[in-house]
Amino acid sequence: MPNIKFFSGKTTPIEMHRVRIIQKLNLLPIEERLNAIKQAGNNTFLLKNADVFLDMLTDSGVNAMSNDQLAAMSQADDSYAGSATFYRLEEALQHVFGTKYFLPAHQGRACEHLLAKVFVKPGQVVPMNYHFTTSKAHITVLGGDILEIPVKEAFEITSTCPFKGNMDIAALKQIIAERGKDGIAYVRMEAGTNLIGGQPFSLQNLREVSAVCRANGIPLVQDISLLSDNLYFCKIREEACKNMTIHEIALAFAEASDILYFSGRKLGFARGGGICMNSKEHYLNIRGFIPLYEGFLTYGGMSVREMEALAVGMYETLDEDVISQGPQFIEFMTNELVKVGVPVVTPPGGLGCHLNAKDFLSHIPQTQYTAGALASALYLISGVRGMERGTMSEQRNEDGTEPLAHMELVRLAMPRRVFTMSQIVYAVDRIHWLYQNRHSVGGLQWTDEPKILRFFYGTLEPIGDWQQKLMAKFKEDFGDSL
Ligand code: F0G
Repeated sequence: MPNIKFFSGKTTPIEMHRVRIIQKLNLLPIEERLNAIKQAGNNTFLLKNADVFLDMLTDSGVNAMSNDQLAAMSQADDSYAGSATFYRLEEALQHVFGTKYFLPAHQGRACEHLLAKVFVKPGQVVPMNYHFTTSKAHITVLGGDILEIPVKEAFEITSTCPFKGNMDIAALKQIIAERGKDGIAYVRMEAGTNLIGGQPFSLQNLREVSAVCRANGIPLVQDISLLSDNLYFCKIREEACKNMTIHEIALAFAEASDILYFSGRKLGFARGGGICMNSKEHYLNIRGFIPLYEGFLTYGGMSVREMEALAVGMYETLDEDVISQGPQFIEFMTNELVKVGVPVVTPPGGLGCHLNAKDFLSHIPQTQYTAGALASALYLISGVRGMERGTMSEQRNEDGTEPLAHMELVRLAMPRRVFTMSQIVYAVDRIHWLYQNRHSVGGLQWTDEPKILRFFYGTLEPIGDWQQKLMAKFKEDFGDSL
Protein backbone atom coordinates (compact mmCIF):
# COMPACT_ATOMS: atom_id res chain seq x y z
CA MET A 1 0.00 0.00 0.00
CA PRO A 2 1.31 3.45 -0.76
CA ASN A 3 2.53 5.73 1.95
CA ILE A 4 -0.58 7.67 3.00
CA LYS A 5 -0.29 9.84 6.10
CA PHE A 6 -3.29 10.88 8.18
CA PHE A 7 -3.92 14.38 9.58
CA SER A 8 -4.78 12.74 12.92
CA GLY A 9 -1.33 11.17 13.04
CA LYS A 10 -2.86 7.67 13.20
CA THR A 11 -1.85 5.19 10.57
CA THR A 12 -4.57 2.95 9.29
CA PRO A 13 -4.01 0.58 6.39
CA ILE A 14 -6.09 1.59 3.39
CA GLU A 15 -7.50 -0.93 0.95
CA MET A 16 -6.12 -0.24 -2.54
CA HIS A 17 -9.10 -1.92 -4.15
CA ARG A 18 -12.82 -1.45 -4.14
CA VAL A 19 -15.41 -4.11 -3.53
CA ARG A 20 -17.50 -4.92 -6.63
CA ILE A 21 -19.05 -8.23 -5.58
CA ILE A 22 -20.27 -8.91 -2.07
CA GLN A 23 -21.47 -11.87 -0.11
CA LYS A 24 -24.04 -11.43 2.65
CA LEU A 25 -22.88 -12.35 6.15
CA ASN A 26 -24.90 -13.56 9.14
CA LEU A 27 -24.21 -12.71 12.74
CA LEU A 28 -26.44 -14.98 14.77
CA PRO A 29 -27.67 -14.04 18.25
CA ILE A 30 -25.48 -15.51 21.00
CA GLU A 31 -28.07 -18.17 21.98
CA GLU A 32 -27.93 -19.52 18.42
CA ARG A 33 -24.15 -19.35 18.41
CA LEU A 34 -24.10 -21.43 21.59
CA ASN A 35 -26.28 -23.98 19.86
CA ALA A 36 -24.07 -23.95 16.74
CA ILE A 37 -20.81 -24.50 18.65
CA LYS A 38 -22.50 -27.29 20.67
CA GLN A 39 -23.62 -28.96 17.44
CA ALA A 40 -20.05 -28.61 16.14
CA GLY A 41 -18.68 -30.40 19.21
CA ASN A 42 -16.69 -27.26 20.12
CA ASN A 43 -14.55 -27.87 17.07
CA THR A 44 -14.47 -24.84 14.78
CA PHE A 45 -13.73 -27.09 11.77
CA LEU A 46 -17.23 -28.53 12.22
CA LEU A 47 -19.12 -25.22 12.24
CA LYS A 48 -21.34 -24.54 9.25
CA ASN A 49 -20.18 -21.48 7.36
CA ALA A 50 -23.72 -20.05 7.42
CA ASP A 51 -23.37 -19.83 11.21
CA VAL A 52 -20.05 -17.96 11.03
CA PHE A 53 -19.75 -14.17 10.90
CA LEU A 54 -16.02 -13.66 10.15
CA ASP A 55 -14.39 -16.84 8.87
CA MET A 56 -10.77 -16.62 10.00
CA LEU A 57 -10.18 -20.37 9.94
CA THR A 58 -7.74 -20.25 7.04
CA ASP A 59 -6.49 -18.20 4.09
CA SER A 60 -6.51 -21.30 1.90
CA GLY A 61 -8.68 -21.14 -1.21
CA VAL A 62 -10.74 -18.29 0.24
CA ASN A 63 -8.87 -15.22 -0.99
CA ALA A 64 -10.84 -12.67 -2.99
CA MET A 65 -10.17 -12.60 -6.72
CA SER A 66 -9.64 -9.49 -8.82
CA ASN A 67 -11.80 -8.46 -11.76
CA ASP A 68 -8.89 -9.39 -14.05
CA GLN A 69 -8.77 -12.90 -12.58
CA LEU A 70 -12.52 -13.36 -13.04
CA ALA A 71 -12.31 -12.06 -16.60
CA ALA A 72 -9.42 -14.41 -17.39
CA MET A 73 -11.44 -17.40 -16.17
CA SER A 74 -13.85 -16.95 -19.04
CA GLN A 75 -11.13 -17.52 -21.64
CA ALA A 76 -10.18 -20.94 -20.21
CA ASP A 77 -9.33 -23.49 -22.87
CA ASP A 78 -10.85 -26.77 -21.79
CA SER A 79 -8.83 -29.35 -23.66
CA TYR A 80 -7.32 -32.45 -22.11
CA ALA A 81 -3.92 -31.95 -23.73
CA GLY A 82 -2.14 -28.86 -25.00
CA SER A 83 -4.58 -26.34 -23.53
CA ALA A 84 -3.69 -22.70 -24.26
CA THR A 85 -4.50 -22.03 -20.60
CA PHE A 86 -1.55 -24.16 -19.52
CA TYR A 87 0.85 -22.20 -21.69
CA ARG A 88 -0.42 -18.91 -20.26
CA LEU A 89 0.16 -20.19 -16.71
CA GLU A 90 3.57 -21.59 -17.63
CA GLU A 91 4.55 -18.25 -19.15
CA ALA A 92 3.39 -16.37 -16.04
CA LEU A 93 5.53 -18.60 -13.80
CA GLN A 94 8.52 -18.35 -16.13
CA HIS A 95 8.18 -14.58 -16.02
CA VAL A 96 7.78 -14.30 -12.24
CA PHE A 97 10.52 -16.78 -11.26
CA GLY A 98 12.75 -17.01 -14.31
CA THR A 99 12.49 -20.82 -14.11
CA LYS A 100 12.34 -22.97 -17.20
CA TYR A 101 10.09 -25.89 -16.28
CA PHE A 102 6.66 -26.04 -14.67
CA LEU A 103 4.71 -29.11 -13.59
CA PRO A 104 1.08 -28.61 -12.50
CA ALA A 105 -0.53 -30.34 -9.49
CA HIS A 106 -3.98 -30.05 -7.93
CA GLN A 107 -2.82 -28.36 -4.71
CA GLY A 108 0.18 -27.85 -2.43
CA ARG A 109 0.15 -31.23 -0.71
CA ALA A 110 0.07 -32.94 -4.10
CA CYS A 111 3.44 -31.27 -4.88
CA GLU A 112 4.71 -32.51 -1.51
CA HIS A 113 3.58 -36.01 -2.36
CA LEU A 114 5.42 -35.95 -5.70
CA LEU A 115 8.61 -34.45 -4.28
CA ALA A 116 8.70 -36.97 -1.44
CA LYS A 117 8.15 -39.81 -3.91
CA VAL A 118 11.06 -38.68 -6.07
CA PHE A 119 13.55 -37.66 -3.41
CA VAL A 120 12.86 -39.33 -0.04
CA LYS A 121 14.30 -42.76 0.72
CA PRO A 122 13.74 -44.60 4.05
CA GLY A 123 16.16 -43.39 6.70
CA GLN A 124 16.86 -40.07 5.00
CA VAL A 125 16.13 -36.74 6.66
CA VAL A 126 14.84 -33.42 5.38
CA PRO A 127 16.26 -30.48 7.35
CA MET A 128 13.84 -27.54 7.31
CA ASN A 129 13.23 -24.19 8.96
CA TYR A 130 9.89 -25.58 10.22
CA HIS A 131 7.40 -28.18 9.11
CA PHE A 132 3.89 -27.79 7.78
CA THR A 133 1.51 -30.66 8.68
CA THR A 134 1.18 -32.07 5.15
CA SER A 135 4.84 -31.50 4.25
CA LYS A 136 5.92 -33.55 7.26
CA ALA A 137 3.36 -36.31 6.69
CA HIS A 138 4.46 -36.95 3.08
CA ILE A 139 8.07 -37.34 4.18
CA THR A 140 7.43 -39.56 7.20
CA VAL A 141 4.96 -41.82 5.38
CA LEU A 142 7.81 -42.82 3.07
CA GLY A 143 10.14 -43.68 5.95
CA GLY A 144 11.97 -40.36 5.99
CA ASP A 145 12.15 -37.93 8.86
CA ILE A 146 12.26 -34.18 9.31
CA LEU A 147 14.73 -32.12 11.30
CA GLU A 148 13.58 -28.65 12.28
CA ILE A 149 16.40 -26.18 12.62
CA PRO A 150 14.98 -22.67 12.82
CA VAL A 151 16.82 -19.89 14.61
CA LYS A 152 16.05 -19.86 18.35
CA GLU A 153 13.77 -16.79 18.02
CA ALA A 154 11.25 -18.98 16.12
CA PHE A 155 9.92 -20.29 19.45
CA GLU A 156 9.87 -16.96 21.26
CA ILE A 157 6.22 -16.00 21.10
CA THR A 158 6.92 -12.34 21.67
CA SER A 159 9.99 -11.11 19.88
CA THR A 160 11.28 -8.25 17.81
CA CYS A 161 13.21 -10.56 15.48
CA PRO A 162 12.07 -9.58 11.96
CA PHE A 163 12.92 -13.00 10.46
CA LYS A 164 11.83 -15.75 12.86
CA GLY A 165 11.57 -18.10 9.86
CA ASN A 166 15.34 -18.09 9.30
CA MET A 167 17.28 -21.35 9.36
CA ASP A 168 20.16 -21.94 11.76
CA ILE A 169 23.09 -22.27 9.34
CA ALA A 170 25.44 -23.84 11.89
CA ALA A 171 22.83 -26.53 12.65
CA LEU A 172 22.46 -27.24 8.92
CA LYS A 173 26.23 -27.64 8.52
CA GLN A 174 26.31 -29.98 11.51
CA ILE A 175 23.55 -32.19 10.09
CA ILE A 176 25.40 -32.42 6.79
CA ALA A 177 28.64 -33.27 8.60
CA GLU A 178 26.89 -36.02 10.59
CA ARG A 179 24.65 -37.54 7.90
CA GLY A 180 26.54 -36.80 4.71
CA LYS A 181 24.94 -35.85 1.41
CA ASP A 182 23.34 -39.27 0.95
CA GLY A 183 21.56 -39.13 4.29
CA ILE A 184 19.70 -35.98 3.26
CA ALA A 185 16.88 -36.09 0.71
CA TYR A 186 16.75 -32.32 0.32
CA VAL A 187 16.69 -29.18 2.41
CA ARG A 188 13.32 -27.45 2.70
CA MET A 189 12.76 -23.76 3.34
CA GLU A 190 9.18 -22.61 3.93
CA ALA A 191 8.45 -19.00 3.02
CA GLY A 192 6.13 -17.24 5.50
CA THR A 193 6.55 -20.13 7.93
CA ASN A 194 2.96 -21.15 8.68
CA LEU A 195 2.98 -22.95 12.02
CA ILE A 196 5.14 -20.46 13.90
CA GLY A 197 2.81 -17.58 13.06
CA GLY A 198 3.41 -16.82 9.36
CA GLN A 199 6.96 -15.66 10.03
CA PRO A 200 9.31 -14.87 7.11
CA PHE A 201 12.95 -15.67 6.38
CA SER A 202 15.36 -13.14 4.93
CA LEU A 203 16.83 -13.25 1.44
CA GLN A 204 20.25 -13.25 3.06
CA ASN A 205 19.44 -16.34 5.13
CA LEU A 206 18.02 -18.10 2.07
CA ARG A 207 21.21 -17.32 0.16
CA GLU A 208 23.34 -18.69 3.00
CA VAL A 209 21.29 -21.90 3.09
CA SER A 210 21.60 -22.12 -0.68
CA ALA A 211 25.39 -21.71 -0.57
CA VAL A 212 25.69 -24.55 1.96
CA CYS A 213 23.40 -26.80 -0.11
CA ARG A 214 25.26 -26.08 -3.35
CA ALA A 215 28.66 -26.65 -1.77
CA ASN A 216 27.41 -30.10 -0.68
CA GLY A 217 25.35 -31.04 -3.77
CA ILE A 218 22.04 -31.16 -1.83
CA PRO A 219 18.87 -29.88 -3.53
CA LEU A 220 17.18 -26.88 -1.92
CA VAL A 221 13.39 -27.06 -2.13
CA GLN A 222 11.41 -23.96 -1.29
CA ASP A 223 7.74 -24.06 -0.27
CA ILE A 224 6.51 -20.75 -1.67
CA SER A 225 2.83 -21.12 -0.71
CA LEU A 226 3.11 -18.06 1.54
CA LEU A 227 5.60 -16.27 -0.71
CA SER A 228 3.64 -13.05 -1.15
CA ASP A 229 3.86 -12.23 2.57
CA ASN A 230 7.54 -13.16 2.68
CA LEU A 231 8.36 -10.96 -0.32
CA TYR A 232 6.63 -8.02 1.30
CA PHE A 233 8.48 -8.53 4.60
CA CYS A 234 11.85 -8.69 2.81
CA LYS A 235 11.02 -5.47 1.02
CA ILE A 236 10.16 -3.57 4.20
CA ARG A 237 12.34 -5.30 6.83
CA GLU A 238 15.56 -6.21 5.01
CA GLU A 239 18.02 -3.45 4.23
CA ALA A 240 19.44 -5.24 1.18
CA CYS A 241 15.94 -5.54 -0.36
CA LYS A 242 14.85 -1.93 0.17
CA ASN A 243 15.93 -0.87 -3.29
CA MET A 244 14.84 -4.04 -5.04
CA THR A 245 11.48 -4.42 -6.75
CA ILE A 246 9.17 -7.20 -5.57
CA HIS A 247 9.94 -8.96 -8.85
CA GLU A 248 13.68 -8.74 -8.26
CA ILE A 249 13.24 -10.27 -4.80
CA ALA A 250 11.08 -13.07 -6.26
CA LEU A 251 13.74 -13.78 -8.89
CA ALA A 252 16.43 -13.84 -6.20
CA PHE A 253 14.35 -16.33 -4.15
CA ALA A 254 14.04 -18.56 -7.19
CA GLU A 255 17.69 -18.22 -8.14
CA ALA A 256 18.75 -19.44 -4.69
CA SER A 257 16.56 -22.57 -4.90
CA ASP A 258 16.58 -25.72 -7.03
CA ILE A 259 12.86 -26.40 -6.77
CA LEU A 260 9.93 -24.14 -5.92
CA TYR A 261 6.50 -25.56 -5.10
CA PHE A 262 3.31 -23.90 -4.05
CA SER A 263 -0.31 -24.13 -3.03
CA GLY A 264 -2.28 -21.95 -5.45
CA ARG A 265 -4.92 -21.79 -2.74
CA LYS A 266 -2.63 -19.24 -1.08
CA LEU A 267 -0.14 -17.97 -3.65
CA GLY A 268 -1.91 -16.45 -6.65
CA PHE A 269 -5.35 -15.99 -4.97
CA ALA A 270 -6.90 -19.02 -6.71
CA ARG A 271 -6.75 -22.80 -6.27
CA GLY A 272 -4.31 -25.39 -7.54
CA GLY A 273 -0.58 -25.78 -7.26
CA GLY A 274 2.62 -26.67 -9.04
CA ILE A 275 6.36 -27.13 -9.12
CA CYS A 276 8.87 -24.84 -10.89
CA MET A 277 12.51 -25.66 -11.59
CA ASN A 278 15.45 -25.14 -13.92
CA SER A 279 16.99 -28.60 -13.78
CA LYS A 280 15.95 -30.87 -16.64
CA GLU A 281 16.94 -33.86 -14.53
CA HIS A 282 14.58 -32.93 -11.68
CA TYR A 283 11.88 -32.12 -14.22
CA LEU A 284 12.14 -35.52 -15.89
CA ASN A 285 12.24 -37.35 -12.56
CA ILE A 286 9.05 -35.72 -11.32
CA ARG A 287 7.21 -35.54 -14.66
CA GLY A 288 6.32 -39.21 -14.88
CA PHE A 289 4.24 -39.04 -11.70
CA ILE A 290 2.03 -36.16 -12.87
CA PRO A 291 -0.19 -38.17 -15.26
CA LEU A 292 -0.21 -41.01 -12.74
CA TYR A 293 -1.40 -39.08 -9.68
CA GLU A 294 -2.62 -35.68 -10.85
CA GLY A 295 -3.78 -35.48 -14.46
CA PHE A 296 -2.26 -34.86 -17.86
CA LEU A 297 0.81 -32.60 -17.98
CA THR A 298 -1.14 -29.57 -19.17
CA TYR A 299 -3.60 -29.42 -16.27
CA GLY A 300 -2.31 -31.64 -13.43
CA GLY A 301 -5.69 -32.02 -11.71
CA MET A 302 -6.53 -28.31 -11.79
CA SER A 303 -9.61 -26.82 -13.39
CA VAL A 304 -8.56 -24.70 -16.39
CA ARG A 305 -10.63 -21.80 -15.03
CA GLU A 306 -8.58 -21.81 -11.84
CA MET A 307 -5.38 -22.01 -13.89
CA GLU A 308 -6.33 -18.83 -15.75
CA ALA A 309 -7.02 -17.08 -12.44
CA LEU A 310 -3.74 -18.37 -11.04
CA ALA A 311 -1.76 -17.00 -14.00
CA VAL A 312 -3.20 -13.52 -13.46
CA GLY A 313 -2.77 -13.88 -9.68
CA MET A 314 0.93 -14.61 -10.19
CA TYR A 315 1.45 -11.28 -11.99
CA GLU A 316 -0.58 -9.52 -9.29
CA THR A 317 1.76 -10.98 -6.65
CA LEU A 318 4.45 -8.65 -8.01
CA ASP A 319 2.36 -5.61 -7.05
CA GLU A 320 3.28 -4.30 -3.61
CA ASP A 321 -0.15 -2.68 -3.19
CA VAL A 322 -1.69 -6.12 -3.61
CA ILE A 323 0.61 -8.19 -1.39
CA SER A 324 0.84 -5.64 1.42
CA GLN A 325 -2.90 -5.76 2.18
CA GLY A 326 -2.79 -8.97 4.24
CA PRO A 327 0.32 -8.22 6.30
CA GLN A 328 -0.78 -4.63 6.98
CA PHE A 329 -4.21 -5.69 8.20
CA ILE A 330 -2.56 -8.37 10.36
CA GLU A 331 -0.14 -5.81 11.74
CA PHE A 332 -3.02 -3.46 12.55
CA MET A 333 -4.98 -6.20 14.29
CA THR A 334 -1.95 -7.47 16.23
CA ASN A 335 -0.92 -3.98 17.36
CA GLU A 336 -4.46 -3.09 18.47
CA LEU A 337 -4.57 -6.29 20.57
CA VAL A 338 -1.13 -5.59 22.05
CA LYS A 339 -2.32 -2.11 23.06
CA VAL A 340 -5.09 -3.61 25.21
CA GLY A 341 -2.81 -6.27 26.69
CA VAL A 342 -4.04 -9.32 24.76
CA PRO A 343 -1.23 -11.91 24.36
CA VAL A 344 -0.41 -12.42 20.67
CA VAL A 345 2.51 -13.64 18.56
CA THR A 346 4.90 -10.80 17.67
CA PRO A 347 6.21 -9.40 15.48
CA PRO A 348 3.09 -9.61 13.31
CA GLY A 349 3.63 -12.12 10.53
CA GLY A 350 1.71 -12.98 7.37
CA LEU A 351 -1.21 -15.39 7.10
CA GLY A 352 -3.06 -14.21 10.20
CA CYS A 353 -3.03 -12.82 13.72
CA HIS A 354 -2.17 -15.47 16.30
CA LEU A 355 -3.54 -15.39 19.86
CA ASN A 356 -1.29 -16.93 22.50
CA ALA A 357 -3.80 -19.09 24.36
CA LYS A 358 -1.29 -20.27 27.00
CA ASP A 359 -1.10 -16.72 28.38
CA PHE A 360 -4.65 -15.73 27.45
CA LEU A 361 -6.14 -18.63 29.42
CA SER A 362 -3.25 -19.41 31.76
CA HIS A 363 -5.67 -21.07 34.22
CA ILE A 364 -6.58 -23.84 31.72
CA PRO A 365 -4.09 -26.74 31.55
CA GLN A 366 -3.01 -27.94 28.12
CA THR A 367 -4.63 -31.29 28.86
CA GLN A 368 -7.95 -29.41 28.72
CA TYR A 369 -7.03 -27.94 25.31
CA THR A 370 -6.28 -24.32 26.10
CA ALA A 371 -6.30 -23.14 22.47
CA GLY A 372 -9.33 -25.26 21.61
CA ALA A 373 -11.25 -23.71 24.53
CA LEU A 374 -10.24 -20.22 23.37
CA ALA A 375 -11.36 -20.88 19.79
CA SER A 376 -14.71 -22.18 21.06
CA ALA A 377 -15.21 -19.23 23.45
CA LEU A 378 -14.27 -16.72 20.75
CA TYR A 379 -16.86 -18.10 18.34
CA LEU A 380 -19.49 -18.06 21.09
CA ILE A 381 -18.99 -14.41 21.98
CA SER A 382 -18.33 -13.03 18.48
CA GLY A 383 -19.20 -15.38 15.62
CA VAL A 384 -15.50 -15.22 14.61
CA ARG A 385 -14.11 -18.60 13.58
CA GLY A 386 -10.41 -19.21 14.28
CA MET A 387 -8.32 -22.37 14.14
CA GLU A 388 -6.87 -24.23 17.12
CA ARG A 389 -3.13 -24.75 16.70
CA GLY A 390 -2.09 -26.47 19.90
CA THR A 391 -2.42 -29.78 21.73
CA MET A 392 -5.70 -30.69 20.02
CA SER A 393 -3.82 -30.59 16.70
CA GLU A 394 -1.27 -33.11 18.00
CA GLN A 395 -1.75 -36.87 17.92
CA ARG A 396 -1.80 -39.15 20.98
CA ASN A 397 1.24 -41.40 21.52
CA GLU A 398 0.79 -45.13 20.95
CA ASP A 399 0.61 -45.68 24.74
CA GLY A 400 -2.31 -43.25 24.97
CA THR A 401 -0.37 -40.41 26.58
CA GLU A 402 -0.75 -36.97 25.22
CA PRO A 403 2.15 -34.93 23.79
CA LEU A 404 1.62 -31.31 24.80
CA ALA A 405 2.19 -28.83 21.97
CA HIS A 406 5.09 -26.31 22.14
CA MET A 407 2.62 -23.52 21.66
CA GLU A 408 -1.12 -23.11 22.19
CA LEU A 409 -2.22 -20.71 19.47
CA VAL A 410 -5.51 -19.66 17.97
CA ARG A 411 -4.88 -18.60 14.41
CA LEU A 412 -7.12 -15.85 13.08
CA ALA A 413 -6.32 -16.06 9.38
CA MET A 414 -6.70 -13.03 7.16
CA PRO A 415 -7.84 -14.21 3.74
CA ARG A 416 -6.45 -11.69 1.28
CA ARG A 417 -8.71 -8.77 0.24
CA VAL A 418 -11.72 -10.32 2.00
CA PHE A 419 -12.31 -8.39 5.23
CA THR A 420 -12.89 -4.68 5.68
CA MET A 421 -11.26 -2.57 8.37
CA SER A 422 -14.49 -2.26 10.40
CA GLN A 423 -14.73 -6.05 10.57
CA ILE A 424 -11.20 -6.18 11.99
CA VAL A 425 -12.11 -3.49 14.51
CA TYR A 426 -15.12 -5.61 15.55
CA ALA A 427 -12.95 -8.72 16.00
CA VAL A 428 -10.45 -6.75 18.12
CA ASP A 429 -13.29 -5.38 20.26
CA ARG A 430 -14.74 -8.81 21.01
CA ILE A 431 -11.30 -10.39 21.67
CA HIS A 432 -10.56 -7.54 24.09
CA TRP A 433 -13.86 -8.22 25.91
CA LEU A 434 -13.10 -11.93 26.05
CA TYR A 435 -9.67 -11.20 27.52
CA GLN A 436 -11.28 -9.09 30.25
CA ASN A 437 -13.63 -12.01 30.95
CA ARG A 438 -11.09 -14.78 30.44
CA HIS A 439 -11.59 -16.27 33.92
CA SER A 440 -15.10 -17.30 32.91
CA VAL A 441 -13.68 -19.61 30.23
CA GLY A 442 -13.06 -23.27 31.13
CA GLY A 443 -11.54 -26.31 29.47
CA LEU A 444 -12.76 -28.97 27.06
CA GLN A 445 -12.81 -32.78 27.03
CA TRP A 446 -13.34 -35.22 24.18
CA THR A 447 -16.69 -36.79 23.48
CA ASP A 448 -15.40 -38.42 20.30
CA GLU A 449 -11.66 -38.58 19.68
CA PRO A 450 -10.62 -39.99 16.29
CA LYS A 451 -7.25 -41.69 16.17
CA ILE A 452 -5.97 -39.86 13.10
CA LEU A 453 -6.12 -36.10 12.55
CA ARG A 454 -8.50 -35.72 15.49
CA PHE A 455 -8.52 -31.93 15.24
CA PHE A 456 -10.36 -32.05 11.91
CA TYR A 457 -13.45 -33.92 13.01
CA GLY A 458 -13.25 -34.89 16.69
CA THR A 459 -15.90 -33.49 19.06
CA LEU A 460 -15.56 -32.09 22.58
CA GLU A 461 -17.71 -30.76 25.42
CA PRO A 462 -17.08 -28.01 27.94
CA ILE A 463 -15.93 -29.07 31.39
CA GLY A 464 -18.67 -27.57 33.58
CA ASP A 465 -21.19 -24.89 32.57
CA TRP A 466 -18.73 -22.12 31.67
CA GLN A 467 -20.35 -21.46 28.30
CA GLN A 468 -23.71 -20.58 29.91
CA LYS A 469 -21.92 -18.30 32.39
CA LEU A 470 -19.94 -16.62 29.64
CA MET A 471 -23.13 -16.06 27.66
CA ALA A 472 -24.84 -14.56 30.71
CA LYS A 473 -21.93 -12.15 31.20
CA PHE A 474 -22.04 -11.21 27.51
CA LYS A 475 -25.74 -10.38 27.78
CA GLU A 476 -25.15 -8.38 30.92
CA ASP A 477 -22.51 -6.26 29.17
CA PHE A 478 -23.96 -6.04 25.65
CA GLY A 479 -27.74 -6.24 26.26
CA ASP A 480 -29.53 -7.19 23.06
CA SER A 481 -26.50 -6.51 20.81
CA LEU A 482 -25.58 -9.36 18.50
N1 F0G B 1 2.59 -25.57 2.50
C1 F0G B 1 2.16 -24.61 3.31
C2 F0G B 1 3.14 -23.65 3.90
C3 F0G B 1 0.79 -24.49 3.62
O1 F0G B 1 0.39 -23.54 4.44
C4 F0G B 1 -0.12 -25.42 3.04
C5 F0G B 1 -1.55 -25.35 3.35
C6 F0G B 1 0.40 -26.41 2.20
C7 F0G B 1 1.75 -26.45 1.95
C8 F0G B 1 -0.51 -27.43 1.58
O2 F0G B 1 -1.20 -26.84 0.53
O3 F0G B 1 -3.60 -26.99 1.22
O4 F0G B 1 -2.96 -26.58 -1.16
O5 F0G B 1 -2.58 -28.79 -0.15
N2 F0G B 1 -2.05 -24.67 4.31
C9 F0G B 1 -3.49 -24.53 4.61
C10 F0G B 1 -3.70 -23.75 5.90
C11 F0G B 1 -4.23 -25.83 4.60
O6 F0G B 1 -4.86 -23.66 6.34
O7 F0G B 1 -2.76 -23.17 6.43
P1 F0G B 1 -2.67 -27.33 0.10
